[in-house]
Amino acid sequence: MSLIQEIESIYDEAVLELSKLNSEEELDTKKNLYVGKKGKLTQILKTMGSLTVDERKTLGKLANETQEKIDNLVASQRIKIKDYFYENTLKNEFFDTLRPIQEPSLNGTLHPLTQIQYEIEAIFTSMGFSIMDGPEVETDYNNFEALNFKADHPARDTQDTFYTTDGKLLRTHTSAIQVRALRNLKPPFRIIAPGRVFRYEEVDASHETTFYQVEGMVVGKDISIANLIYTMETLLSEIFQKKVKTRLRPGYFPFVEPGFELDIQCLVCGGKGCSVCKHSGWLELLPCGLVHPNVLESGGLDPKEWTGFAFGLGLDRLVMMRYGIHDIRYLHSGNLRFLKQFQS
Ligand code: DAH
Repeated sequence: MSLIQEIESIYDEAVLELSKLNSEEELDTKKNLYVGKKGKLTQILKTMGSLTVDERKTLGKLANETQEKIDNLVASQRIKIKDYFYENTLKNEFFDTLRPIQEPSLNGTLHPLTQIQYEIEAIFTSMGFSIMDGPEVETDYNNFEALNFKADHPARDTQDTFYTTDGKLLRTHTSAIQVRALRNLKPPFRIIAPGRVFRYEEVDASHETTFYQVEGMVVGKDISIANLIYTMETLLSEIFQKKVKTRLRPGYFPFVEPGFELDIQCLVCGGKGCSVCKHSGWLELLPCGLVHPNVLESGGLDPKEWTGFAFGLGLDRLVMMRYGIHDIRYLHSGNLRFLKQFQS
């Protein structure tokens, strides 16, 4: 066989072999049998040394053309393989629109503080209360002045305050919303107001610089301490789903008169004493009292005509009591191992 015939037969063989392949990997290996460094075509060119100049020219030209034709063949076969692959995948893939989706493995959940807030909202709305909101950045007037903390009132020191540069402050308690309620609602009314509050505190197991409260306020005619105690006891037995031991002590807050501290027996240690209750067996849970006449007046109401009670509930402490959590810092830690325990 002449070299020309050999080259032609190499091409014929390449066409035959390469055009039946249907994987790119195979195509890449097989093409080297013809045009690679050790391929048949290259081998033939190596034997050309013994030929005349004219023969070399003709053969060289033929070899180059053949190399090019084989390269083109490989390229078009590659496209065919890809087309075949897509067509086949589409044909075989069946997308069932009715198939139920896979359950996500990690469910999100409400923070225990939010869960308890929602529960409290449900308890109070079932007793005819409405829910109010107020801003976290407050005026001195709403947070202190209108609540009977006059400018140099020593009780201001009990609530170490973060002030903003424009003369406002981060509310130190949700009681600021009492003032907004008195100004904006027509009595009689019953409201609760959940929210975040801020204090410049030294952080420890039971103190944080920010925490959550729910304020409550009832204004009407002939509101008495008996109404207050009844409401508080209903709330606590609903929250803890059992009768909890409580005690009432006198407490001083400028915006109530008389003022009380309603304590509950520590549910973490059962009254024996632990770090949460500072070893007293009791926890201050619910400061409350009858709305001070000055507060009613600053809200534009006549204290001879209107009376009311108010209370402030610390949500963080409530969550700690309910789940036996010893350190308030867990609640704001964002620690997933801690939070996952509250998945509902
Ligand atoms: N605002 C008070 C505080 O954060 C708590 C409080 C006390 C609220 C007595 C009240 C109340 O409504 O009557 O320390």
